[in-house]
Amino acid sequence: MEKGLIMVFNKHNLKDLDDDDKVINPIYSRHGLKNPIPKYELPDHEMLPRSAYHLVKDELMLDGNSRFNLATFVTTWMEDEAGKLMVDTFDKNMIDKDEYPHTAEIEMRCVNMLARLWNSHESEDAMGCSTIGSSEACMLGGMALKWKWREMMKKQNKPTDKPNLVMGANVQICWKKFCRYWDVEPKYVPCEGDRLIIDPKMAADLCDENTIGVVAIMGSTFDGRYEPVEAIAKELDRIEKEKGLNIPIHVDAASGGFIAPFIQKDLVWDFRVKRVKSINASGHKFGLVYPGVGWVVWRSNDDLPEDLKFYVDYLGGQMPTFAINFSRPGAQICAQYYNFLRLGMDGYAKIQQACQDVAMYLSSEIAKLGPFKLVSDGSDLPVFAWTLKEETNFSLYDFSDKLRERGWLVPAYPMPENRRDLVVQRIVVKNGFSHDMANMLLDDMKRALEFFSSQPEFKKKEKGSQFRH
Ligand SMILES: Cc1ncc(COP(=O)(O)O)c(C=O)c1O
Repeated sequence: MEKGLIMVFNKHNLKDLDDDDKVINPIYSRHGLKNPIPKYELPDHEMLPRSAYHLVKDELMLDGNSRFNLATFVTTWMEDEAGKLMVDTFDKNMIDKDEYPHTAEIEMRCVNMLARLWNSHESEDAMGCSTIGSSEACMLGGMALKWKWREMMKKQNKPTDKPNLVMGANVQICWKKFCRYWDVEPKYVPCEGDRLIIDPKMAADLCDENTIGVVAIMGSTFDGRYEPVEAIAKELDRIEKEKGLNIPIHVDAASGGFIAPFIQKDLVWDFRVKRVKSINASGHKFGLVYPGVGWVVWRSNDDLPEDLKFYVDYLGGQMPTFAINFSRPGAQICAQYYNFLRLGMDGYAKIQQACQDVAMYLSSEIAKLGPFKLVSDGSDLPVFAWTLKEETNFSLYDFSDKLRERGWLVPAYPMPENRRDLVVQRIVVKNGFSHDMANMLLDDMKRALEFFSSQPEFKKKEKGSQFRH
């Protein structure tokens, strides 16, 4: 186990704990809380609902404030009406299509809207589904690529035991999981110098007849930059001419799927690019829904192998499903539909543009603070990263810790393999992070810099906490 990793599922050895550490012991004077409440064992007796509610709620107050969480891509604010709708629909299980046909219908409407948003051609029978998040959506996209490749190889009587997937070293961890879980060799295009995303030519040159596809990211989790989907497709056209290999693209648009169609309409990255066979996005990131909902859409029924579909009852008939989970909450899908109706194209565009305006303002102001150099500026996703441009008596890990004292969560971490020497700090600007809050953060940053310059003997930290992407 990696040092410093917090295991959420490890079992405490009660023998090693002091008596006080085995119990939750709030100082309430309420009937029902007379006995200490064990922390790691199931209590012997019940308690009043209000007591249980307060015990849990009070513990959770010690978490960071999600509005100050500039590390996460995931939605931290929704309108009260959306929250109410989610409470109203918490009881719906997404897989019970026959019992909840309208939830299933709403899921289908959302898939239709997304397929059109991503420029699926009307003559192509796009297919898609909701997932628990982009990780599951990427697994499904990757599985479809693997199954399609295997069908093709079998038809040609070729071996199918060494599939590989080509992607930038900056992929999100879900692609590493995909490769490990489904026995696919990952082939990474390394970062080099200032290029911290995929290189289209290098990606195409890594492809061979065992390549199930190329992943293009819109945009990179590390710094918010978009990968050039059209350029990757062009390089793959070249490889097709040179080697006769027809390599498909999956676009991991976890964040960009809900940004580019609204504020970078001219950027061609979606089903307009012929080689793009599937696209995923997180409804719970810039889709503006609380966690967990994701989406995956295939260009056509043909790109989703029949072998991967399972059928469930639906209105006296059968409906194809494609998912790793069986039971899953329906509330997030209802909330996604709420956002689509509530915001429409204009509403999403206004919110995403506001996020980008704040991101670009903040990045330009951070660049002016002195010791920092921007790695990205928020002009792709409203996400940007910076590094230290000069020798300082503090590291970005220290800077991150200092901001945390004021409640801000701004992670510091090294870039991927080959550029692990480059440590950056990143901010994700989300709906609800206002210009005003950006100025508050800037003031706290200035105060932090003053603190470090007043401490010439400050011993800097070279490693930070384990930040996961
Ligand atoms: C590019 C990319 N792909 C996939 C994921 C995984 O998404 P999720 O958290 O929705 O499972 C992320 C999450 O940050 C991401 O940035």
